[in-house]
Amino acid sequence: MSRLFTPLTLRDTTMPNRVWVAPMCQYSSVDGYPKDWHLVHLGSMARGGAGLVIQEATAVVPEGRITPADAGIWEDGQAAAYQRITDFIHSQGAVSGIQLSHAGRKASTTQPWRGHDYVEPADGGWQTVGASPVAFGDWPAPKELSADEILRLVQAFGAATRRALAAGFKVVEIHAAHGYLLHQFLSPITNHRTDEYGGDLDGRSRLLIQVTDAVREQWPHDRPLFVRFSASDWIDGGWTPEETVDVARRLVSHGVDLIDVTSGGLDLRARIEAEPGYQVPFARTVREGSGLPVSAVGLITSPEQADQILVDRSADAIMLARELLRNPTWPLRAAHILGDEVPWPQQYERGRWRH
Ligand SMILES: Cc1cc2nc3c(=O)[nH]c(=O)nc-3n(C[C@H](O)[C@H](O)[C@H](O)COP(=O)(O)O)c2cc1C
Repeated sequence: MSRLFTPLTLRDTTMPNRVWVAPMCQYSSVDGYPKDWHLVHLGSMARGGAGLVIQEATAVVPEGRITPADAGIWEDGQAAAYQRITDFIHSQGAVSGIQLSHAGRKASTTQPWRGHDYVEPADGGWQTVGASPVAFGDWPAPKELSADEILRLVQAFGAATRRALAAGFKVVEIHAAHGYLLHQFLSPITNHRTDEYGGDLDGRSRLLIQVTDAVREQWPHDRPLFVRFSASDWIDGGWTPEETVDVARRLVSHGVDLIDVTSGGLDLRARIEAEPGYQVPFARTVREGSGLPVSAVGLITSPEQADQILVDRSADAIMLARELLRNPTWPLRAAHILGDEVPWPQQYERGRWRH
């Protein structure tokens, strides 16, 4: 049996295998509410055999959206709307997850395409917020968050977690990667604060730790909590793998169960040489340094490559994004190639790959 198709239990939640759907923005929500698209998109990944399906970056407050068409979970009606999606994911034997997010200085942009569902930002968008008034490239500079605003934001993450529970999600992931708000606090490139939320690593990681505590307080003991980090800004003077390990280690006592290791996204000057599995060494570093389970992501496309990463003990699970867009039934095919028997949807049994 491959390692890819062995279950992984975190707290009391068992993912039936280690092929997981990485969070992927769909820019297809209306007022933060999911549509049929989300049910079909996430549902097809669950039907396709993924062990864990993590919903896209979901904003904890409206101004935390990247675009007006982003998913949200700032009001109770949204939680109710996700329920049929989590129900469907569970009906397929997969586990559902949600990534809680605030885009910070990378918010208030527009949908990447202009189809019939294009949503023009009202009044040209909104004032973004950040750790410090440092702009992303030539985008408008964010407004520096005050201590009171930070407190309200921490509470918003807590309230969003309460709603995620009501929606039926089994895993929560805090988005502290890809240059979004929590990453902006972590990185010295974007955090120039002189108060308790800036300066040394204690200061720069304070918001993430407070958010983690607020989330954990609302999240039941039997359900796993993940944090997604960009392990490197890929730029001198930026956030580093060593700092990632340090903060990951601190998060153990704050109830975090797995670190999802990605990289980049903070600064346009970064030069990233993306080759197959290029982020796996970061995952390994965080795994070895923190003692926590980790997931690896980024240009992982073949079943053998995915399984080998686990056999090498570089990671405990594999997240796939673009490969699953190309082929949502990738896990079923991968199991066949690796010689594993996995359950198929009964409706699809007649199409099962045979040895
Ligand atoms: C369409 C799309 C949307 C994405 N949205 C998110 C997101 O909401 N949150 C996030 O952390 N990463 C997001 N990502 C990054 C993926 O989760 C993943 O880390 C990245 O695509 C690398 O994996 P891959 O090589 O398997 O695609 C997105 C990627 C794609 C292709």
